[in-house]
Amino acid sequence: MQAQGEVKKNSLTITDNRTGKSYEVPVENDTIRATDLRQIKVNPDDFGMMTYDPAFMNTASCKSKITFIDGDKGILRYRGYPIEQLAERCSCLEVAYLLIYGELPNKAQLAEWTKNITTHTFVHENLKKLMDGFHHDAHPMGMFVSGLAALSTFYPSAKHIESKEERQMTFYRLIGKAPTISAFAYRHSVGMPYVHPDNDLSYPGNFLNMMFRIAEPKYQPHPVLEKALDVLYILHADHEQNCSANAMRGVGSSHVDPYSAAAAAAAALYGPLHGGANEAVLRMLDEIGSKDKIPGFIKDVKEGKGRLMGFGHRVYKNYDPRASIIKRLAEQVFEVTGRDAKLDIALELERIALQDDYFVKRKLYPNVDFYSGLIYQAMRFPVAMFPVLFAIGRMSGWLAQWAEMLDDSEQKIARPRQVYLGHDKRDVPLMNQRA
Ligand code: CMC
Repeated sequence: MQAQGEVKKNSLTITDNRTGKSYEVPVENDTIRATDLRQIKVNPDDFGMMTYDPAFMNTASCKSKITFIDGDKGILRYRGYPIEQLAERCSCLEVAYLLIYGELPNKAQLAEWTKNITTHTFVHENLKKLMDGFHHDAHPMGMFVSGLAALSTFYPSAKHIESKEERQMTFYRLIGKAPTISAFAYRHSVGMPYVHPDNDLSYPGNFLNMMFRIAEPKYQPHPVLEKALDVLYILHADHEQNCSANAMRGVGSSHVDPYSAAAAAAAALYGPLHGGANEAVLRMLDEIGSKDKIPGFIKDVKEGKGRLMGFGHRVYKNYDPRASIIKRLAEQVFEVTGRDAKLDIALELERIALQDDYFVKRKLYPNVDFYSGLIYQAMRFPVAMFPVLFAIGRMSGWLAQWAEMLDDSEQKIARPRQVYLGHDKRDVPLMNQRA
């Protein structure tokens, strides 16, 4: 409590009870600088106080102007614009431009941006050979990660990350080629010939073409499905300092080329704790099988026998704003593809869970993954492609985070500290002395 007449100060006073000494540490944006704690020492030759924060639960690793999330209120904004408005009024390429450059493009800027991305969708023929080298049942995400890393060998000048022109080319190439590499990975896994990009189609339309075209002289994507994919890309485009964005920044902070950094980010996304939950939702809906089994399933979840997949979020303690958009989108997609019984199970599951004290008390709401897998499956994407689809959408976010990191004069190579709890110095025993 502020005593009367006391002047308010933007600082924190810390008393070290080991020494009785007090320290004043400045507060800026509700944070203190971890390095300001280093002055806190018991002995002059001590290293100084650090914070211990596994998984960065309460550590801001950067200052950012890209994405804002208020998890309690269910708010997600890119560069200040609400995700709901972006999903309704913009295309994914407009949003990619917004994330990277900070403002929405005007008509001429969008035309230029679209043209440049479209004319960088083709990949070198040798990249096809790389794809051919994979085993027939290779996971498309593994191929995608390798394909991104391989791009660095085709564009060695991209390592000049300080060059504006090089960065620009990287934006075009990574956003342009990510769908091509993804589609090639899929076609390889099903033994189908690769389909080259069709520059007359939209960004999502061309991806559907490269995925699904068989013998049609000209592939025409269904406009509802094309739009749905566009919106899904927007919803997945960025989510501030998530695991893969953190990987992009962390690896990029070594000043490696951006293709290698993007491969690292995609590898982070491959993990089931990050990009794989929508697959788990589908498996769960399959296991439940019919609406009458839902009460029994919910009872099991409440007894700790498994989780309601697609529910709950580390940040959102309210309805994930992306989930409400995806739910509406699912209805539109199913009108075209035919209704899958799993959607009805999902809707009923959500209805029951949102009324149940267990979920209400713990603030567990549907997250982005609850309905996205259903849409992907209805659009004929195999489950193994789900994280790849996520990665295509997230590419612009990774690039925006990467560029912001490079332009931030406070950033250095990412190098956390540790609390060493291992052995003190000891001598190496000879082989015959070892237990
Ligand atoms: N079903 C049932 N109970 C749950 C669930 C769930 N989906 N999620 C959390 N809880 C319970 C949990 O058991 C705990 O209860 P108690 O306090 O009695 O021990 C309480 O809620 C808090 O859970 P937590 O594990 O401490 O929460 P967290 O913030 O560490 O976990 C989460 C977040 C997303 C990992 C978790 O909610 C979860 O496992 N959800 C299911 C998987 C899923 O849908 N993941 C996709 C996340 S969105 C992807 C993205 O944005 O990239």
